[in-house]
Amino acid sequence: MERVIVLGVLASGGGTNLQAILDAIATGSLDARVAVVISNVPGAGALARAKAAGVETLVIDHKRFADRGAFDTAVVEALRSRGVGVIVLAGFMRVVTEVLLGAFPSRVVNIHPALLPAFPGVHAQGQALRHGVRVAGCTVHFVDGGTDTGPIIAQAAVPVLEDDDEASLTARILVKEHELLPQVLQWIAEDRVSVDASEAGRPRVRVRGPRAERC
Ligand code: GRF
Repeated sequence: MERVIVLGVLASGGGTNLQAILDAIATGSLDARVAVVISNVPGAGALARAKAAGVETLVIDHKRFADRGAFDTAVVEALRSRGVGVIVLAGFMRVVTEVLLGAFPSRVVNIHPALLPAFPGVHAQGQALRHGVRVAGCTVHFVDGGTDTGPIIAQAAVPVLEDDDEASLTARILVKEHELLPQVLQWIAEDRVSVDASEAGRPRVRVRGPRAERC
């Protein structure tokens, strides 16, 4: 079954992943509508990208709230009032709480620039370089209560080259991020993604139908 999913994108930075989503919608490869882009950072580049695409923007500055739960309550209200069904954390540099996750169970998706469970948290590309890995990449996963620990939906790999620095590796991974994130969102739009309890007790994602070779 295919439908247009209503996205709420949370972003703190430049917003190239948001741009990839907007571009995929514009070219017809993603059956979605971005209802709102929310940032906790007033000058975030993601806000300018949203405005340029005619998408509503909202700044919810976390510094105005007593704690993470209060901040997330404001975010949930903003998302609900706009009919958002799926939330995308696209470079959102805040840990989300049960307030958000409980309001949108298995409906909060994050993109992380590493092949999880390796290198969670910040500076994942630098962590990968310091460990001397030969293959790096990105992961799209459902968000749970931990930092980058939720059920993995899809991953894409890139080689690490001999003369890579953090900037060059980051750029190579970003190219893959921009393919993978819209692809996963389209699977969700097609209602092909579910989270099952596995025998090991850890939730596992099942994607029905064909996956692209790289995912
Ligand atoms: C991406 O590398 C994403 O994986 C990470 O934050 C970065 C955001 O980049 N979570 P952008 O703002 O989408 O350009």
